[in-house]
Amino acid sequence: MQRTFLMVKPDGVKRGLIGEIMKRFEQKGFTLLNAELMTVDRAKAENHYFEHQDKPFFGELVNFITSGPVFAMVWEGENIIEVSRTMIGKTSPLEALPGTIRGDFACTKEENVIHGSDSLLSAEREIANFFDLLSIRSRDEDYPYDERKSV
Ligand code: GTP
Ligand code: MG
Repeated sequence: MQRTFLMVKPDGVKRGLIGEIMKRFEQKGFTLLNAELMTVDRAKAENHYFEHQDKPFFGELVNFITSGPVFAMVWEGENIIEVSRTMIGKTSPLEALPGTIRGDFACTKEENVIHGSDSLLSAEREIANFFDLLSIRSRDEDYPYDERKSV
């Protein structure tokens, strides 16, 4: 079972898309382990996007992520890192397919509604950057997609 870090970006929060986005991951069968509406300071934002620190848009990206509250979440599920990236859709609105979150809601590549971890390593790093690891709840015993119950 994998965990991932998902974050509704400031544009998604402003546009009232938190419920719609959470609904999609709940309907898929994933489990929410923690969530918080928070304002991100520059240090946390720079840490989150450190892999882009040499890109020309890094400053703009940090300005955007710190521009208003984000909704940070930890989710768990089978292959959730890859599946959630598929559900999120491509970075560019020209490539994000209808039915994906960005395909349905994002108009620009700068303000694209949601972030999702792209690997196990980044998921661990990003969760630790945003959450106290002790505050993350464990999966419910009666989780419907528990592998012990699948045939
Ligand atoms: P994240 O889930 O947010 O990491 O998006 P991603 O993995 O689909 O894309 P990537 O990691 O390559 O880029 C990170 C984020 O940088 C994107 O989601 C955009 O918000 C932003 N970004 C990408 N290209 C540009 C750009 O040309 N200008 C600006 N301002 N932001 C960009
Ligand atoms: Mg990325």
